[in-house]
Amino acid sequence: MGLTKLALIGLTTLGAVAGLQHDQKPLFAEETGQAPISGDKKPLVSSDALQDTISSSKLLARAKRLYKIAKLSEDEYNHPTRVIGSKGHLGTLKYIYKTLQQLGDYYTLSEQPFPAVSGNIFEARLLLDLDLAESAYPMSLTPPTPKKQPVDGQLVLVANDGCHKSDYPSSVDGNIAFIRRGTCPFGTKSELAGKAGAVAAIVYNYEDTPVTGTLGTPSPHHVATFGLSGAEAAPYIAKLKHSKKVEATAYIDAVVDSIMTTNIIAQTTEGDPDNCVMLGGHSDSVAEGPGINDDGSGSLALLEIATQLTNFSVNNCVRFAWWAGEEEGLLGSDYYVDVLPPAENKKIRLFMDYDMLASPNFAYQVYDARNEVNPVGSQQLRDLYVDWYVAHGLNYTFIPFDGRSDYDGFIRNGIPGGGIATGAEGIKTADEVAMFGGEDGVPYDVCYHELCDNVNNLNLTAWELNTKLVAHSVATFARSFEGFPERADDGYAVAEAKSGQYEKTVKYHGSKMFI
Ligand SMILES: *[C@@H]1O[C@H](CO)[C@@H](O)[C@H](O)[C@H]1NC(C)=O
Ligand SMILES: *[C@@H]1O[C@H](CO)[C@@H](O)[C@H](O)[C@H]1NC(C)=O
Ligand SMILES: *[C@@H]1O[C@H](CO)[C@@H](O)[C@H](O)[C@H]1NC(C)=O
Ligand SMILES: [Zn+2]
Repeated sequence: MGLTKLALIGLTTLGAVAGLQHDQKPLFAEETGQAPISGDKKPLVSSDALQDTISSSKLLARAKRLYKIAKLSEDEYNHPTRVIGSKGHLGTLKYIYKTLQQLGDYYTLSEQPFPAVSGNIFEARLLLDLDLAESAYPMSLTPPTPKKQPVDGQLVLVANDGCHKSDYPSSVDGNIAFIRRGTCPFGTKSELAGKAGAVAAIVYNYEDTPVTGTLGTPSPHHVATFGLSGAEAAPYIAKLKHSKKVEATAYIDAVVDSIMTTNIIAQTTEGDPDNCVMLGGHSDSVAEGPGINDDGSGSLALLEIATQLTNFSVNNCVRFAWWAGEEEGLLGSDYYVDVLPPAENKKIRLFMDYDMLASPNFAYQVYDARNEVNPVGSQQLRDLYVDWYVAHGLNYTFIPFDGRSDYDGFIRNGIPGGGIATGAEGIKTADEVAMFGGEDGVPYDVCYHELCDNVNNLNLTAWELNTKLVAHSVATFARSFEGFPERADDGYAVAEAKSGQYEKTVKYHGSKMFI
């Protein structure tokens, strides 16, 4: 059903965007779109003029609409959500698409369908020597234990970091592999454990803290896999090293499904198509809640700016993206960049990521993107945000540029990137309270990935202010790339060498650790 409906709202492929066919119109523009505003020459966009169009009341009205859309999922999920595959997400896509369609031919609109994996964990438990392991978390996208039943086995210590076949002793067969975190992704460890015949796997941390990870792209060899804190693992490691036995019982009831979902892309028909400023937010939420801050705040800021921009002309092309499957591991943005032909890659001068702009206990956070380890231009973008906060007499903090949102695929593929955010599950410090107000010792967003991420979970001051900054970023580059490094300066060889450095700094792929 979902797919048929998607197809109905006008299916064009990436080819339309990539090929930049300016005569390509949304299928239903004639029927439902307003007549394009044309004739009078529109003024060239300016930062101040575009910022002036932004108001928290318009943003809030959109947030209320989005919450109603999230409630469409209640039948199936018993609560509002916009997770991929739900009616709430389908409704979100329709809302974004229709809103853009009503802007006439200012934008070339396209959908980019792609297959996405989506995991659901119903129940999970790990016993070690009959004690419940308190810090054991099943990895995202883990398969269930065999027949979705508990399995018993000996805990078998794997050598090194368990990144090679030879690290797995033959005694792993029929037992539970106990693997140290590090060096290679969790998915690789689970796969090697499966190939060695393990009935389940546990990845224990090299730090005292728990591991909330993802196995990433499913493999037929993956086995049910938990993460475990280093602190809780320590006594069992000691026992095993003294050749004592540890009995384990693992139980995971879970499913991994593959579903089709879609990115939505809107590109100005005006403006130099060989020099695009691109920006994105994600249209989906987690299953646990409606995702009004994460990332309603970013995706609605983009929708509002896309609407307001139509009263202006642009020199450079502006390309907006609403990614799907971000919460399952940056699936939509990864897919987009993966299938982008090299010539099209080069036309994207930079990518700006806007994910969570209105956290209730916010800080003004700027991704610490640096030309040293990121494609050249990333640092100039970082400084554009910094300069704006400074010019407004506001404080800001730098946060790691470590793969937690949709910029990741762009950076790995040589496209300069950056963005701003207001904070997720991290805890606000006393220093930050002096800088931004709010409460110390409390997360930036107490409702991060929870049911209470609703319309009350927005700080409107932060949302309006950051949306103005997003407008500033759009207007600046829509006018001119003067002083911004050319893509040609940052050839593929450099991009590749850098992506090696970048990978060393990256532990996340989306909200979950993957390594
Ligand atoms: C564009 O400007 C006109 C005239 O000021 C205004 O009436 C209209 O609402 C604006 N368009 C949008 C999309 O806000
Ligand atoms: C910026 O932070 C300092 C403390 O580091 C604080 O004194 C100042 O009031 C803050 N500025 C604003 C605008 O909040
Ligand atoms: C938003 O943040 C500002 C500045 O810290 C604060 O004055 C205001 O009360 C907050 N609004 C809400 C709704 O929490
Ligand atoms: Zn997000």
